[in-house]
Amino acid sequence: MTAFRFLVNGDPVEVDLPGMRRLLDVLREDLALTGTKEGCGEGECGACSVILDGQVVDACLVPICQVDGSFVRTVEGLAHGAGETRRLDDLQAAFLETGGAQCGICTPGMLMAARAYLDAGGGPEDDAIREAIAGNLCRCTGYTKIVEAIANAAADLEAGGLA
Ligand code: FES
Ligand code: FES
Repeated sequence: MTAFRFLVNGDPVEVDLPGMRRLLDVLREDLALTGTKEGCGEGECGACSVILDGQVVDACLVPICQVDGSFVRTVEGLAHGAGETRRLDDLQAAFLETGGAQCGICTPGMLMAARAYLDAGGGPEDDAIREAIAGNLCRCTGYTKIVEAIANAAADLEAGGLA
C-alpha cells in the first residue's frame, strides 16, 4: 500500500492503496463518485472518461500511481455553486435541451470529453466536435443530438456565454 495525494474537482484527496488500482475504481468505490461509468473496462468505449491535468483519459486504464499530484475532474465537478444556487454546467444544460442524453451510460464520459474540447478552445464545427468525441461510444442517440448540444454550448461560449 502506498499513499497517493491528488485533487478531485478541486478537493484534496489522499488514498492508501496498491499503486496499480484503477483510477475508475478509486473514484467509484473508494471516493463514492459514481458519476463516472464503466462500460468495456478496456479503453474502448470512453464511458469512464475523466479529465486528468487537462487531458481526457480513460479512467479504466489509468493506475492510481500515475495520478499522484494531479488534478482530476469528473462529471460531479461540472455543476456550479452549492445548495439552492447549484446549477448545471452549460454543457449539461445543452445535453438536456437537445436530448443528447438517453440511457445516460455514455453521458458522463461524453460531457468530460466535450468539456475538455471546449476548455481547449474548441468551436461549434461539426467535424471538430465529432473528432473530439471519437473515443466515446453511444448506443442510443446516433450522436446527432450530442454533437448539437456541444455545438450549442460552443456557440454560446463564443458569443460570450459561460459554457
Ligand atoms: S470503461 Fe473505460 S474505456 Fe470503456
Ligand atoms: S445515451 Fe445511451 S449510450 Fe449514449
